[in-house]
Amino acid sequence: MTGTIALPMQAEPLHGPQQARRVGPCTMVILGAGGDLTRRKLIPALLHLLGDGLLPADFAVLGVGRKPMEDARFREDQRPADADAALWEQLAPRLRYFAADLDVPDSFAAIAERVEAIEAERGGERGRLFYLALPPSVYAEAVEGLARSGTLPRRDPGDPRWARVIIEKPFGSSLATAEALNRMVKSHIGEHQVYRIDHYLGKETVQNLLVFRFANSIFEPVWNRHHIHHVQITAAETLGVEHRARYYEEAGVVRDMFQNHLLSLLSLTAMEPPATFRAEAVRDEKAKVLGAVRVDGAVRGQYGPGTLEGEQVPGYREEEGVATDSPVPTYAALRCRVDNWRWDGVPFFLRSGKRLAGRDTEIAVQFHTPPHLMFPLEPGARLSPSVLVFQVQPDEGLSLSFQLKQPGSGVQISSARMDFSYQEAFGGGQRDAYETLLLDCMAGDPMLFLRSDATEAAWRIVDPVIERWEREPPRDFPNYAAGSAGPAAADQLIREAGTTWRSLGAARLRTPAP
Ligand code: NDP
Ligand code: BG6
Repeated sequence: MTGTIALPMQAEPLHGPQQARRVGPCTMVILGAGGDLTRRKLIPALLHLLGDGLLPADFAVLGVGRKPMEDARFREDQRPADADAALWEQLAPRLRYFAADLDVPDSFAAIAERVEAIEAERGGERGRLFYLALPPSVYAEAVEGLARSGTLPRRDPGDPRWARVIIEKPFGSSLATAEALNRMVKSHIGEHQVYRIDHYLGKETVQNLLVFRFANSIFEPVWNRHHIHHVQITAAETLGVEHRARYYEEAGVVRDMFQNHLLSLLSLTAMEPPATFRAEAVRDEKAKVLGAVRVDGAVRGQYGPGTLEGEQVPGYREEEGVATDSPVPTYAALRCRVDNWRWDGVPFFLRSGKRLAGRDTEIAVQFHTPPHLMFPLEPGARLSPSVLVFQVQPDEGLSLSFQLKQPGSGVQISSARMDFSYQEAFGGGQRDAYETLLLDCMAGDPMLFLRSDATEAAWRIVDPVIERWEREPPRDFPNYAAGSAGPAAADQLIREAGTTWRSLGAARLRTPAP
C-alpha cells in the first residue's frame, strides 16, 4: 500500500412508495416528564413530527412528574431553545402536566382520571401511549400501577382504542431481573402492547443495514466466514458520565451500551435474511442470531484525567456523585463468536467507552486479503484489506475501501475509498431516532423495538462478563486517560486475531470536490 485515494460515490434519489404512517388520534402520557430524556429528546421529536405533518390531528400529551407545577410552567420548561415559534404555538396547548409520585399507590388512579378527562374532552376513540421516561428501578411499579388502575388495559391488536407502553433501557439489570420484569409485564398486557426501546434501532444508518444487506444481491454471497475476516463494532463517545453518576454507578458500560445498542448492531449485521419485511419475521431472525452469540474475550477500562479537545477533564472517580474508589467500567471491548454455520470462526469485536478521543459509531466489516498475491509489494509493506463501513455517527453514510493500481509505469498498489454520505445524497432532514420510534409506536409497528426473547438473549450474552467483573474488582483502574483510544489491554485483545482497532474517526466521510 502506498497511499489512499478518496473517490466520490453518487446516489440516485430513491424512488418508490413513501411509507406514510397512518396514525389515529391518541394521548401520550410521559411518566418522568421532569427528566432529561423528555426535555432533550421526546419533546423536540414531537415538535419535528408536528412540523412534518406526521402527528395525528388530535394529539395530546400528559406529562407526569413529581414536581408540582402549572401547565404553563411545564410548557415553558419544555420549550426547546431553537424551537420555531409558530410551530411551538401549535404544540404547546397540547401539553398538560400532572404532578404525581409513583411511589404513592393512589397516584395511578389520579393519572387514570386525567387521561379519561382528556379523552372525554376530545371525544371519539383514541389510543393511549405510555412512555416510561423513568429510572429503570421504577419500571415495574409503573407498569403494575398503570395496569391495576385500568388506564393501561389489555387490548387486542387492531383495537382503535389501543394502549401501548414504551419502556426505556436498560430493561432489567441482569437476565434474572429482565425475565422477572417480562413476566410481570405480560401478566397484565399482551406482548404486542410492549415497546422496549433501543434508540440505536431508530437511527437511519442502522435501519439502512437491512436494506443494504437484503435489497442488493452483490453483498449477500460474500457475507460469511469465507470472505469476512472479522467485524468491528464501535460506539465511542467523548462525553463523560455527565450528570448521570447515580444511574451509571449501578449500570456501567456493559449494561448501558452493550446489552442493548451494540448487540442490536451486531444482530442486524449477522442475522439471516428474514422471509418477509414483517415485524415478527425480522424480530425472529434477530432473536435467533443473538441466541448463537457468546463472548470469548473481554477487557474493561475506566477513564482517568486527561485532555480532550484541548481541555483538561477529570477522571471518572473525580466526577460528581462517583465513588472515589469506583470499580465501575466506563469502557469495554468484547470479542464475540457467533456459533452458527455462516459465522463460524469470524470474530466480532465490540467496543464502547466514554471520554475517548473521538465520537464515532460505526460497523466495519473487514474482508479477507487475497489468498495469494501475485503483485510484488515494497519491502515491509502489507496489503490493506477491503473494508465496508456503516458510519452511524457523527456523519451517516457508507464507505468501501479497496485496492487499485496507481497510475504510472509498474504496478504500485494503493488503497482507495468510495464514500456515500446521506447528507450529501439526500440533503438534511433525516429524522432523529426518537421521531422514527415514536411514530412507529403510534402506528403500531414494533419492528424496531425489542421483543422479550431478544432482550433476554442479550442479557444471556453479557451476564457472565458482568458477573465476573463484579466478582473480581479491577486492580488497575483508572487504566486509560480521557482523550485516549482506551486501555492498552484492548489492543492486545484484537491483536491476537492478527489485526488492530480502526483508529477513531477513520471512516469520517469525505465530501468530494464539486
Ligand atoms: P432523569 O433522572 O433525568 O429523569 C427521570 C425522571 O423520573 C425524573 O423527572 C424523576 O422525577 C422521575 N421519577 C423518578 N422516580 C419517580 C417516581 N417514583 N415517581 C414519579 N417520577 C419519578 O432520567 P432521564 O430522563 O435521563 O432518563 C429516563 C430513562 O430514559 C432512563 O431509563 C434512562 O436510562 C433512559 N434513557 C435516557 C437517555 C437520555 O439521553 N437522557 C438516553 C437513553 C435512555 P424528579 O425530577 O422528581 O426526580
Ligand atoms: C444512551 C446511554 O442509551 O446512549 C448513554 O445511556 C449514551 O450513556 C447514549 O451516551 C449514546 O447515544 P448516542 O445516540 O448519542 O450515540
